[in-house]
Amino acid sequence: MKVAILGATGAVGMQMIKCIEERKIDCELKLLASKKSAGKKVKVNIAGNEKELTIEETTNDSFNGMDFVLGAVEAEFSKIYAPAIVKAGAVFIDNSSAFRMDKDVPLVVPEINGEDAKNNKGIIANPNCSTIITDMAIYGINKVSKIKSIVASTYQAVSGAGVGGMKALDEQVEYLAKNSDIPNHRISSLMKDEGAEGPKFESDSFKYQIAYNLIPCIGSFTDNDFTTEEMKMQNESRKIMHLPDLKVTCTCIRVPVMRSHSISVTLDLEKKLSVEEVKKALSNVKGVKLVDDQKNHLYPMPLNTTDKDIVEVGRIRQDLVFENGISLWCCGDQIRKGAATNAVQILELFL
Ligand SMILES: NC(=O)c1ccc[n+]([C@@H]2O[C@H](COP(=O)([O-])OP(=O)(O)OC[C@H]3O[C@@H](n4cnc5c(N)ncnc54)[C@H](OP(=O)(O)O)[C@@H]3O)[C@@H](O)[C@H]2O)c1
Repeated sequence: MKVAILGATGAVGMQMIKCIEERKIDCELKLLASKKSAGKKVKVNIAGNEKELTIEETTNDSFNGMDFVLGAVEAEFSKIYAPAIVKAGAVFIDNSSAFRMDKDVPLVVPEINGEDAKNNKGIIANPNCSTIITDMAIYGINKVSKIKSIVASTYQAVSGAGVGGMKALDEQVEYLAKNSDIPNHRISSLMKDEGAEGPKFESDSFKYQIAYNLIPCIGSFTDNDFTTEEMKMQNESRKIMHLPDLKVTCTCIRVPVMRSHSISVTLDLEKKLSVEEVKKALSNVKGVKLVDDQKNHLYPMPLNTTDKDIVEVGRIRQDLVFENGISLWCCGDQIRKGAATNAVQILELFL
């Protein structure tokens, strides 16, 4: 089996290599990125065999002979390369937002709607990272009582913005640690719009300082004043969970956490469930771990789910606003389950 990773040098691409190694997927691997990375060497261990692979510059010919292409590039590049991938006869499992809402493209979280992957025409989309983590946390509840609506707030790690996002937080924290006399820990020069004098940071990942700050805008604003990231939670959850009438109101926030997204979720259910019934519904759900022990102060936290495939759910309580409401808190590593692991699981559906 021949597998290419498109965007192998990025946060998601590098994690895909790790997932293929960990899950012992026996394949011939090809690593593709931009011209900038061509020639770089990467050591891999595929099904027990150590190898050194060379990153190749992506061209339309890169996909000839491939069986699968795992996409880990921005949507604009997925759109550019998709025709060549499909023409080469490979299945394109894409992490970008390029094709997620296309009616001919299944949008798949294997634990929830793995069956949908069968109806592909050469492209299968991986959902948005916060949406995967949220839907993983709630799909077990939906099986017991249909979800009518969701109110959610996301706390999204900087690695959601790729390698550049992590570099930006690291650089800013390091700079502030060395310059503790800066008033209010504010590096004003990071805010390009202010045009202030001071140290220059090369981050294109965030419009504002992220160290010691929160940024309440991910993606761009849409006509209804929500952001593109916020609308993904509704649009994609409807498609993944086969709930066309699901209503979601969401606020997405970038937080200075390195890795693992967290989401505060309130569900309005068709049928009232007790906290115990919800816990029972979640106890046998694949890919989900219940972490909810008030006495011992155990609840999900992003540091605890970092570099793990499992989604943790806790703080489960009867909501005080909705008659049939349940509130909860969940955390999951969005580079793993929110992206790379989910894509490799989709590939495994074909093995
Ligand atoms: N990060 C997350 O948590 C996450 C979660 C879910 C989905 N996603 C999605 O996954 C995709 C990748 O995100 P990321 O966070 O991994 O980004 P990233 O760290 O910035 O990596 C981007 C990758 O794209 C490659 N690339 C750039 N221009 C290219 C070109 N012209 N041809 C081929 N490859 C090119 C880069 O290669 P060079 O190193 O050579 O520039 C790099 O390997 C995005 O669509 C993102 O929305 C990300």
